[in-house]
This record gives sequence, structure tokens and C-alpha cells, in this order.
Amino acid sequence: MIRLNHVAIIMDGNGRWGIKNFKNRTKGHEYGVKNIKPIIEFCIRNKIKNLTLYALSKDNFIKRKKGELNNIFYLFEKYLNDQKTFFEKKKINLTFIGEKSGLPKNIKKIMSSINKKPNVLNLNLNLCIAFNYSSKLEIIKSFKKTLSQNKALNIKNIEQNLYTVKSNDPEIIIRTGGMNRLSDFLLWQSAYSELYFVKTLWPSFTVRKLKDILRKFITIKRNFGA
Ligand code: IPE
Ligand code: IPE
Ligand code: MG
Repeated sequence: MIRLNHVAIIMDGNGRWGIKNFKNRTKGHEYGVKNIKPIIEFCIRNKIKNLTLYALSKDNFIKRKKGELNNIFYLFEKYLNDQKTFFEKKKINLTFIGEKSGLPKNIKKIMSSINKKPNVLNLNLNLCIAFNYSSKLEIIKSFKKTLSQNKALNIKNIEQNLYTVKSNDPEIIIRTGGMNRLSDFLLWQSAYSELYFVKTLWPSFTVRKLKDILRKFITIKRNFGA
């Protein structure tokens, strides 16, 4: 079995999938949400400790139409409510990264109620959802915090103040939807990640495709500059 600590996924292509299948972007976001569960279950079965999912970027929040954003907020809140017992049963520790400010009240409320939960014993998975997230802002915040602690600006101290302090850098970053870019996702943490850009739109991405990526990953020699 492959021993992986951290897999991160940029879940892109929902809108295009919705247009293709229902002539409706919203449907794509709806089916995109449905596609998360099998991936989580695969990670648990394969003892992947950390899964980070890019659900909404800061730029999405600034630039997408209000109607589309409201629908994403609706789906996000519904997902968190609907999956509560699943997360508990499967011993999944759910956290969020990104900017809280500016988000609707109900979203902030549900996020903080989840973040306040005591740590689960015998955890199976740390699931982290990047929502209204910007990697550039995360890095700026970390620099500011490090300075305010009167600590030197070095790699170790900066990493102590990044959101990924516990999960560490992902070994693998996958982006679905055919674009070969990171779109402000884990820019610092991806320094030595293996990047997999797949054409499949997120709602069509399957566990089988994830397995194919992991099979490729194990054949790769990671040098870290050596
Ligand atoms: C990614 O899907 C999810 C979000 C940004 C919320 P998109 O909405 O970017 O879908 P495409 O890339 O337009 O198909
Ligand atoms: C990146 O996708 C963000 C998420 C998938 C959440 P975008 O669709 O926003 O990326 P760009 O704008 O095409 O780079
Ligand atoms: Mg997109």
C-alpha cells in the first residue's frame, strides 16, 4: 500500500460539466459536491492522513456573479449539515482554511461551530476545505505573524504560521478540469509536490482516476534537490 500523508485537489470544471450535461452551471456545482464522498472514503481506506480540497478561491469570491456565489454558499452549508453524521461516524476531523471575513453570517457560523469541536480520538482523516482561500494572502499573514512574534523570517518559522503546520506539504496536488495552473492554491507548500493536471471535469473524476495518479506517483523519484 502507498503511504501518503497529504493529497490536495483543485476541484475545477464544475461549471463546464453543468453546461455540458444540464445547460446549467449550478447543476455542475451540485454534482461536484456529490463527488467528494467517494474520494474521502478512498483516502480513509488507503490511510491518507490529510486531504485538502480547494472549493472556493478568494478570487472566485471577488469575481464570480452574485447568483453563482449564493448558490455555492447554499450548497456548502447544505453539504456541511448533511454530512455531519458521516464525518462523526468516519472519524473525520474537518477544518477550513481561507478568509473568514466577508463571508455570509450563516457560513461563518457553521464553520466556527465545526472548528470549535474537540479533537476526535483515533482520527481517520483530516479533511481541510479551502474556502475563500488565497495562498498569497496566507503567506503574507504568516510573514506578519512571524514578525509580530519577534521571530526571524526563515523557512521554519514561516511554515509554523501557515495553515498547513499540522498537515505538512502535500506530496500530490491534482487539478481536474484541464487547466495547467495552481490559481493561488498552496503556492509555498507545492515547492516539491508532484502536480497532476487532468482533463476530466471534477464531477466526472472517479476513484479509479485517483488510483491511476497514485500508481504514477509511486514510480516517481522525488529528489528534493539532491
Ligand atoms: C470550480 O469549478 C469550483 C469553483 C470555482 C467554485 P468552476 O466553477 O471554476 O467550473 P469551470 O472551471 O467554470 O468549469
Ligand atoms: C480554481 O478554479 C479554484 C477552485 C477550483 C476552487 P478557477 O476556475 O477559479 O481557476 P481559474 O480562474 O480558471 O484560474
Ligand atoms: Mg474553473
